[in-house]
Amino acid sequence: MKIFEELESEVRSYARNFPRLFKRAKGEFMYDEDDNEYLDFLAGAGALNYGHNHPVMREKLLEYIQSDGITHSLDLYTDAKREFMETFREKILRPRNYDYTLMFTGPTGTNAVEASLKIARKITGRSHVISFTNGWHGQTLGSLSMTANSHHRDGAGIALTGMHRAPYDGYLGDAVDTTEYLDKVLSDSSSGVDLPAGVIVETIQGEGGVNYCSMEWLQRLSRVCKKHGVVFIIDDIQAGCGRSGRFFSFEEAGIQPDIVTLSKSLSGYGLPFAMVMLKPELDQWKPGEHNGTFRGNNHAFVTAKAAIDLYWSDDTFAASVRKKGEYIAKRLDAIVEKYGDGSFTVKGRGMFQGINCVNGEIASKITRAAYKKGMIIETSGADDHIIKLLCPLIISEESLAKGIDIIEESVKEVCLRLDEIPEDSDYFDDVVIHGEKKENVSK
Ligand SMILES: Cc1ncc(COP(=O)(O)O)c(C=O)c1O
Repeated sequence: MKIFEELESEVRSYARNFPRLFKRAKGEFMYDEDDNEYLDFLAGAGALNYGHNHPVMREKLLEYIQSDGITHSLDLYTDAKREFMETFREKILRPRNYDYTLMFTGPTGTNAVEASLKIARKITGRSHVISFTNGWHGQTLGSLSMTANSHHRDGAGIALTGMHRAPYDGYLGDAVDTTEYLDKVLSDSSSGVDLPAGVIVETIQGEGGVNYCSMEWLQRLSRVCKKHGVVFIIDDIQAGCGRSGRFFSFEEAGIQPDIVTLSKSLSGYGLPFAMVMLKPELDQWKPGEHNGTFRGNNHAFVTAKAAIDLYWSDDTFAASVRKKGEYIAKRLDAIVEKYGDGSFTVKGRGMFQGINCVNGEIASKITRAAYKKGMIIETSGADDHIIKLLCPLIISEESLAKGIDIIEESVKEVCLRLDEIPEDSDYFDDVVIHGEKKENVSK
């Protein structure tokens, strides 16, 4: 392990919480060099919805490699790309009546976000994009501007501009419809909020703490964008590809955003791959205007097609995700009720659920206890106070039950050792600034 400490940058993060040398992985399990088994409830931060080394995808990929299929091709036409695009049109777009042009960007989520911001700005001739409190869109400068987390923003070393922040659904309490606020400031030429090029939003804020918006809020947001001629972008990089119980996390709202970004689990196999879906009339790029060496990863095209064929030819898989999601929510509700002293809460949608443990210290004690019992699970949120469950969607019912048993034992162990569980303080009761309670002056 010394090589990592000696040679690898301090920037490494996940490795610090799970300091083992991992050697192989299969489905929902990872194995370290001593062959200890870990249940993976992090799943590549949402990049492994179909688990590790899926046998069918691996077979297709090996066949493709063995046949000297093209590996790298810039954006040349390849049979792997053609087959992926035909499958995506037949099995994802057509059944939903969606009309989108597909753009392959550099293979990370942040590159897809950068491309969507650029095209929104280019088309409207405006510079600002509205993003939301607790939003997370990536780490390069454009997407980092859209990201809310101060720890990550502080790493930019330069002013993060070109954005205006708006309150997410529920941010100002249940009684306030924050789309109404947005509509008002965009309608008022003296609000100080410039008419933006676009609005970018996650339907479930993964890194921001598993906050999710209602479908009605999303419909209203879509209407506000239309009313003001603003490009509506849904960043479905983490919540998409089935995590919510549908392929796209916004399907139940019955809306069609102008732009959708996808990455993470799109390749199905954990290979780097990102794509922007644009309404055809927005596809006003000049050739090569958003260029890049690794646009469209042929190996990812092969596995992504296999994933769609396997899991998205009908609703069976999505229905199983929704069923497992209900099971997760029910079990977590029971756990917080038993051990959370009225302070812990559960939130999320589909197989994207989290436990709010009030503060980061308690949440990290619980995830560390779970790690000792053979589970890899992470936290998210402003104070890392949310335990985020992101197990592969293909997890067996037996492993899912075992995983939640581990979470239950860990919550129990930590909570029983605490003198008291702090109350979950809401801004509207008291303001918490950097962990310190301050009076809410508006009371
Ligand atoms: C919603 C969302 N958008 C964008 C990104 C950035 O993706 P990447 O880390 O591949 O650049 C992430 C990563 O966590 C994400 O969750």
